[in-house]
Amino acid sequence: MLVDRRHLLAGTGAAALTAPFGRFAIAQGAPIKVGLLLPYSGTYAALGEAITRAAELYVKQAGGTLGGRAISFTRLDDESEPTKATDLTNKLVYGEKVDVLIGTVHSGVAMAMAKIAAEAGVPTLIPNAGADVITRAGCAPNVFRTSFGNGQVSYATGKAMIAAGIKEAVTLTWQYAAGEEDVAGFKEAFLEGGGKVLKEIYLPFPDVEFQSALAEIASLKPQAVFSFFAGGGAAKFIKDFAGAKLNEKIALWGPGFLTDGVEKAVGAAGNGVKTVLHYADDLDNPQNKAFRAAFEAAYKTSADVYAVQGWDTMAVLDIGLKAVKGDVSKRADLNAAMAKAAFDSPRGPFKLSASRNPVQNFYLRELKDGANRLVGVAVKDLADSTKGCRALT
Ligand code: BEZ
Repeated sequence: MLVDRRHLLAGTGAAALTAPFGRFAIAQGAPIKVGLLLPYSGTYAALGEAITRAAELYVKQAGGTLGGRAISFTRLDDESEPTKATDLTNKLVYGEKVDVLIGTVHSGVAMAMAKIAAEAGVPTLIPNAGADVITRAGCAPNVFRTSFGNGQVSYATGKAMIAAGIKEAVTLTWQYAAGEEDVAGFKEAFLEGGGKVLKEIYLPFPDVEFQSALAEIASLKPQAVFSFFAGGGAAKFIKDFAGAKLNEKIALWGPGFLTDGVEKAVGAAGNGVKTVLHYADDLDNPQNKAFRAAFEAAYKTSADVYAVQGWDTMAVLDIGLKAVKGDVSKRADLNAAMAKAAFDSPRGPFKLSASRNPVQNFYLRELKDGANRLVGVAVKDLADSTKGCRALT
């Protein structure tokens, strides 16, 4: 397990030394402690790293402070391991006493984390994990999601598949909250549009032995496969799918996690894979161009959707911290300001629903020669259901 503190501006510099005396002033001069609960190892390691890099870049570009206070990040590797989630979250919330919690990528880890965060009242931002319950029945005033809901992105994918004339599909994914909710959201749109699901195939997370599933798909001969995989597992799946020559007869579709961040790794094996996501590399807006250029310059690698989510997480936090002038003890005011966050993100217009999940556009993309090309808008301004969110609606 990796624990690493980064004091981007330690609060012991000139500004802190010249601050007036008194306990409040001293507290104001100290950095805001932001806990990052993210995967830095395992199949989702690259996702956690991209989020972290973008978050750090945001603070650097802001001159090292948000709301007038330095930011200190404390990282904890959650390994995408739900059984460790409770201990690790407690460590950040009650051990490190972080002022703000940011995490995580894996839905199973996020569900345990969000429960503790809601009880503790610590302002929390989820930069990826789409577990539907967090912004539906489990919603809380202090828990914000800056990414997507699993049911939201997969519903948009099902809609796009129907619009593309797909009538029959097999689903293949990992068996955990994200995979199951993705299949549910996809089916909602796909069945509603007259599509038929021939079979739902599941593998344990993070298994990458795809051969028997691929053999089953070959014998079922569907028109398309709907698939949720991400990170290292997604790269292997796309290569195995092409290796089995299924890409010659069967259309491969999925939420954009299937191809984001792995487009170079899969090379020509990914040609023709169609995905739907709240982001596309070549979105033509000034925020996206500036963000991609800055990320590339800082890290010598391209930004992906996870980096965008990390960036937007800090943009939402920035809005909240400005409103309370960096005084994180004013949690109700901080949360109220973050709930109203609305800005132009690299992904396009960003705002939050009543249950604190983004209302956003979903784009159809096609992978070609190592790049996810924007095809068009699949669903505009899509809000996830706030079903069961009694605390906020
Ligand atoms: C999830 O577990 O919610 C998830 C993980 C990776 C990409 C997208 C969603």
